[in-house]
Amino acid sequence: MIVLANDHTGLEIKQAVIKLLDEMNLPWKDIGTGSCESTDYPLWGYRAAKLVASGECDRGILVCGTGLGISLSANKVKGIRCALCGDCFTAKLSREHNDANMLALGARVLGTGLAVLIAKTWLETPFSGGGRHSKRIEMIANIERGIEL
Ligand code: RB5
Repeated sequence: MIVLANDHTGLEIKQAVIKLLDEMNLPWKDIGTGSCESTDYPLWGYRAAKLVASGECDRGILVCGTGLGISLSANKVKGIRCALCGDCFTAKLSREHNDANMLALGARVLGTGLAVLIAKTWLETPFSGGGRHSKRIEMIANIERGIEL
């Protein structure tokens, strides 16, 4: 299950991502906002991140104006590795190397076509696994645990 969330700037791109998820036969859960009225991105980043961190959703896609505020908010939740991506290469590597469990997109930065392509790349790319990448992800988790690196 892919959770989707956005602030008021991200509605159009979220709707395009929903179309992509339907084409890919991937189940999704849209938690809002469904409106273009100004709202606070931390709410949406946090709510979606909680669903991923709890295991209720497998991964998440977030959209705000730059992708920054909503990714920063999501990354405050323990267990979340939210990657802000503006290109397909970063999206691919965020899965292969960082096992990113959330993707953030900037609606004021990207056109809808590129945003959807980035989301598709991110959704299709598995974590490459392997010693060095798993070790580094564990190091990130240790930062969250307050363990000195
Ligand atoms: C909203 O105006 C804007 O600040 C927000 O969408 C996002 O870009 C924040 O990082």
